[in-house]
Amino acid sequence: MRQAKTLEIGVIGCGSMGAELAGAVGRDGPGGIPGARVTALLDIDAEQGRSLASSLASHPTSFTVESEFLACGQMDIVAECASQIAVREHGAAVLSSGISLLLMSSGALMDPELFESLNAASAATGAQIIVPSGAVGGIDALRAVQADLKSVTIVSTKRPAALSGAPGFADWEGREITEPVTVFDGPAADAVKLFPANVNVAATVSLAGIGPERTMVRVVADPEAPGNVHEIRATGGFGEFNFRLVNRPHPKNPKTSHLAVLAAIESLRALVNPGMRVGT
Ligand SMILES: NC(=O)c1ccc[n+]([C@@H]2O[C@H](COP(=O)([O-])OP(=O)(O)OC[C@H]3O[C@@H](n4cnc5c(N)ncnc54)[C@H](O)[C@@H]3O)[C@@H](O)[C@H]2O)c1
Repeated sequence: MRQAKTLEIGVIGCGSMGAELAGAVGRDGPGGIPGARVTALLDIDAEQGRSLASSLASHPTSFTVESEFLACGQMDIVAECASQIAVREHGAAVLSSGISLLLMSSGALMDPELFESLNAASAATGAQIIVPSGAVGGIDALRAVQADLKSVTIVSTKRPAALSGAPGFADWEGREITEPVTVFDGPAADAVKLFPANVNVAATVSLAGIGPERTMVRVVADPEAPGNVHEIRATGGFGEFNFRLVNRPHPKNPKTSHLAVLAAIESLRALVNPGMRVGT
C-alpha cells in the first residue's frame, strides 16, 4: 500500500479552537486527524503559542511574527483559528506562499475587498481556501441547490445574556425579557454589523447560498433558549429544507460553539483520508 505524505499543518490562533484542533492532529481514532503533524504556530500572544507548543507531541515552534512563521518549514495548510483581523493580516500572505488556508473567522469574507484579495492570491498560486461549515449544518445541501434557491432564512435564538453587548441589542440591555422577542429581522449584510457574534454563521450560510443581501436573518432573545439555536430554512425549485442546531458552547470559550471546532477537525481529516467520503 502506498504511504500517504504527512499533512503539515500550521495553526494561527492558539485559543480554545486552535488548541483543540492542534491536539487532534496526529491522533488516531474518532475525533483525531491521523497522518498529519502540527508544524508551526502563530499567535499575537506569545504565551498562548508557547503554552500550546509545549503541550503537543510534535513540538512545533511558536511564532509571533508572520514572516518567521511562513519561513519555518513546508506547511501544506494553515488553519486560521484566531480572528477576523488575523484573516486580514495573514490570509493573503499564507495563500501567496502557496499554502492552503482553512478559515474559521468566515465573517471576514463579508468584506468584499478582502474576499477579492484572498481569491486573487488563491488563484495566483493554486492554494485552496477552505471554509468549514463551522457552527452550522446543511452547508453541503445549500451549495448543492445554490443555483435553484429562492429564499434562505437563519433564525438565531439565544438567551439575552448571550446577546448582551451586541450593538443591535443596545435598546434591550437591562430590560426584563420574560418571553421570546425578535430583536432583529433583516438581511445578513446588516445583521453582521449589529450582531457581530452571529457573523460567522451568517457569512458561511450567505457564501454557500444567495449572498448577504438576500439571506434573511432573525435574531430572537429567549430566556429559555436551550443553547445557541440556529435554524436554517431554504426554499427553491428543489423543494425546501430546514436545519435546526442546538449548540453547546465550547468549554473554554462560551462565545464559540463546540461544533465549530469539530467541523474544522473534520475538514482537515477529509484532506488526509483519501478513502470514502460521505456527504461532500
Ligand atoms: N465559523 C464558525 O462557525 C465559527 C464559530 C465559532 C467561532 N469562530 C471564530 O473562530 C475564531 C477563533 O475562535 P476561538 O474560540 O478559538 O477564539 P479564542 O479567543 O479562544 O482564541 C483566539 C486566539 O487567536 C489569537 N489571535 C487573535 N488575533 C490574532 C492575530 N491577529 N494574529 C495572531 N493571533 C491572533 C488570540 O491571541 C487567541 O490566542 C474566532 O474568530 C471566532 O469568531 C468561527
